[in-house]
Amino acid sequence: MTLLTEQTYSKRRAKLLSLLPGKTLLLHNGIIRQRNITASGYPFRANSNFLFFFGRYPPASLALISADGSSLFVPIATPEEVVWDGPGPSLEELRAASGAERIFPLGDFQRELGRRSPESLCSLPHVDAGVNHQLGALLGRPLSLEGADREAGLAVIECRLCHDEAGVEQLREAADVTAHAFARGFEALTQGADGYEILAAIEGECLRRGATTAFPTTLTVHGEVLHNPHISRTLSPGQLLLVDMGAEIPSGYSADVTRTWPVSGMFSSPQRELYELVLNMQRAAVAAIRPGGLFGEVHHAACRCCAEGLIALGLLRGNVDEAVERGAHTLFFPHGIGHLVGLDVHDMEDLGDLAGYADGQTRDTRFGWNNLRLNRKLRPHMLLTIEPGLYWIPALLDDPLRTAPFGDILNRARFERFRGFGGIRIEDNVFVLESGVEETTRSIPKSLSEVAIRAPKE
Ligand code: GLY
Ligand code: MN
Ligand code: MN
Repeated sequence: MTLLTEQTYSKRRAKLLSLLPGKTLLLHNGIIRQRNITASGYPFRANSNFLFFFGRYPPASLALISADGSSLFVPIATPEEVVWDGPGPSLEELRAASGAERIFPLGDFQRELGRRSPESLCSLPHVDAGVNHQLGALLGRPLSLEGADREAGLAVIECRLCHDEAGVEQLREAADVTAHAFARGFEALTQGADGYEILAAIEGECLRRGATTAFPTTLTVHGEVLHNPHISRTLSPGQLLLVDMGAEIPSGYSADVTRTWPVSGMFSSPQRELYELVLNMQRAAVAAIRPGGLFGEVHHAACRCCAEGLIALGLLRGNVDEAVERGAHTLFFPHGIGHLVGLDVHDMEDLGDLAGYADGQTRDTRFGWNNLRLNRKLRPHMLLTIEPGLYWIPALLDDPLRTAPFGDILNRARFERFRGFGGIRIEDNVFVLESGVEETTRSIPKSLSEVAIRAPKE
């Protein structure tokens, strides 16, 4: 795996400072959260901004980024801690790894903070409530995305939104690990493995390659539960297995991919028709990606294709644009077409909609659109997921209150052919380029003939 260099980190910090003149940004690297007993913590995941501007540092480290140079503050292990956890790198080794100008023991932080004017200090809310509280105590005020902290958030977003060369390389690597993991998973499925064995094959491949997973893997025959936390152990012929997984490589960069596989290697006719429609939705969405265009246009292209396909399948009647305008397709495709990917799998979503929405856009409250995590103008080197899906969600399709507004365009007579098929989603990661796109996850098979390996030849 390639490493990020101190030059990359220095360049990133210089860009941040050019966007925040006169300010000092305080970052907290996060802590190890306890699991059940004090000796057993959850695996440490560093704060993404810390990873972006400095790389990997110990839990509880702090940093100040300002025009007079960057200062790191790292915990110093006691002799007793060294016995249990081993000796860490020296302070100089830690400093040199990110090219920070100064490094101090964590205990020196208050003294160094006291040298700064309170008005110059800004920070960002942290997703961990305890860390957030600690940051507030250090700054002497609660953190929120207002005032100076909002300016800091916007500057950080500007640095992270379009990936630099090193970031692009890392994201390609995360996609590559993910591709190998999916290959092992599909292989296991074709050999008759159960769901746990498939999960082990997928996540084992990530581990073998020095990676972990960016979020809890979804592996289910009930893909209609969008973030289904339950792994399906038992797989039966006729079912569709939906796997949503992404590797996270040591730098923290991630991928986010979904594939839907017929358990028996064969689609039924209705399953095949729906699978083809999801593929078409993905193609339509990717074709709508262009620098300067809003991501909402990409979502709209997928919705239009969806409605067109549902009409062709006889599930909806009437006019495509009217169906989309009224949101009839959201009964089958209730989520957004995608989101940003980077150091976070939903990149920078810890800042609410600050990263996802800009250029005069705010989150639409209509069902379906309200689940769109991104609507801003696209720029080269943003990495997006494009993840259309179709689902039989009883809470939507079998609820008279949800379907009543569409009584005139829903063709219930056609429901029985498709009822209970589960969920089909196909998710890939796509770089916006000056012209066209780069699909980093393109090597993960998804065509009909690649996933339905026992489909009769047409
Ligand atoms: N893996 C969660 C998502 O696709 O957004
Ligand atoms: Mn996703
Ligand atoms: Mn996903």
